[in-house]
Amino acid sequence: MSKKLNIGLFGFGVVGQGLYDIIRTKHLNLEIKKIAIKDPHKKRTLPSHLFTTERDELLNNPEINTIVELINDTEAAFEIVSRALKSGKNVVSASKKMIALHLDELIALQHQYGTSLLYEGAVCGSIPIIRNLEEYYDNELLHSISGIFNGSSNYILSKGFIENLDYDSALKQAQELGFAETDPTSDVGGFDAKYKLVIAAAHAYGVVVQPDEVFNLGIQNLAPNDLQYAREKNLKIKLVPVAKELDERHVALFVLPKFVNDKEFLYNVEYEYNGVIVQAAFADQQFFFGKGAGGHPTGSAVLSDIAALRYDYQYEYKKAKERRDLNFTNNIELNVYLRYYDESLLEALNFIHIHERYYSGGYKFVIGKINLQNLIDNAQLIADGKAFIAFADQLSGVNLASEVKQAVEAF
Ligand SMILES: NC(=O)c1ccc[n+]([C@@H]2O[C@H](COP(=O)([O-])OP(=O)(O)OC[C@H]3O[C@@H](n4cnc5c(N)ncnc54)[C@H](OP(=O)(O)O)[C@@H]3O)[C@@H](O)[C@H]2O)c1
Repeated sequence: MSKKLNIGLFGFGVVGQGLYDIIRTKHLNLEIKKIAIKDPHKKRTLPSHLFTTERDELLNNPEINTIVELINDTEAAFEIVSRALKSGKNVVSASKKMIALHLDELIALQHQYGTSLLYEGAVCGSIPIIRNLEEYYDNELLHSISGIFNGSSNYILSKGFIENLDYDSALKQAQELGFAETDPTSDVGGFDAKYKLVIAAAHAYGVVVQPDEVFNLGIQNLAPNDLQYAREKNLKIKLVPVAKELDERHVALFVLPKFVNDKEFLYNVEYEYNGVIVQAAFADQQFFFGKGAGGHPTGSAVLSDIAALRYDYQYEYKKAKERRDLNFTNNIELNVYLRYYDESLLEALNFIHIHERYYSGGYKFVIGKINLQNLIDNAQLIADGKAFIAFADQLSGVNLASEVKQAVEAF
């Protein structure tokens, strides 16, 4: 028999309202007792007695046994979630940045207080990847997880490739449609994808990495020449986070634009859609596809977590228990395309090997092999120089599998 959930909901924005719409259509053994919001003057679609701006009305209410946290304030979200876990309430959250920044502490709190924190909606919206990594693949050896984890940047890239729209106009459209924030840095800079990658890697590999240790390069320096080059090669460019096991003791994480060909799953993931590729030792390659954001798609993932709490479901972080000797590393060699303006950047990056060079007018690029650590060490120079870098195994004739092998041999 499932337990009755009395819910305190934090946030009634895109996801909060989406969740409410879905719950209204269901006959589940749960009730939303109170909703905490920030602005008491905003017009609401529900009776005013349901709302409060006092978080204690939810957190100190002994009747409420479940907190659903769907707010857009990272610090406040961490305070709310940690207080709830400490006071014996189970929690569902979709705040990927908050979870990625505080994952170690949140895991420790769950162990210490015997409470549960679930966050399927935080990673790729409607795609059920976290519980699958945790449960379905618990006995699998995962070679890599990669995909398209950010709908806003994918929307901009689709607009460029399919509709020939330039970067600034595509970004503006994404903002008007509510896909991209007013400050788009987190989306187009690859930060949002990185937070999701860090969370997924904790379940796939049992490795909890601080987001600032993980390299992310976004699409903000993408120029018409880069698009044109990809088109000529029948390739598309996608922003791809990657978690890859290099050998039995090392796992690498990074977020980079990537050239993809029409044989790859990600080639047809367009606009606001997300995709996750799991490369497993026994199951081989598997692909999850779905909406990565939006009130109802994300609300459906949040509801699935809420439903799981009726049976006191908890993440066991199984891989972390099993594989204590696996460590995060940035020591991996990658084939990249670098489009640049200033020769001093090329010198500073110190490529191990350059396969191809091109120079015509103002358009200069090289394709070659570089250690990820060199990209990290020169991140500021790359940003200042408005250079565009993309993972380019499709352009070098070296595929991902042999790339991993070479990297493994380098250890
Ligand atoms: N939007 C998506 O598609 C999506 C997908 C996956 C994950 N997420 C994550 O889900 C969370 C919510 O996103 P959203 O798009 O629903 O945000 P949103 O539309 O901006 O709504 C945020 C809600 O949080 C409330 N709020 C902000 N600070 C608060 C505080 N200190 N105490 C109580 N309420 C507070 C706001 O109150 P007011 O109504 O009074 O302003 C608003 O109702 C974020 O962490 C986001 O990253 C979003």
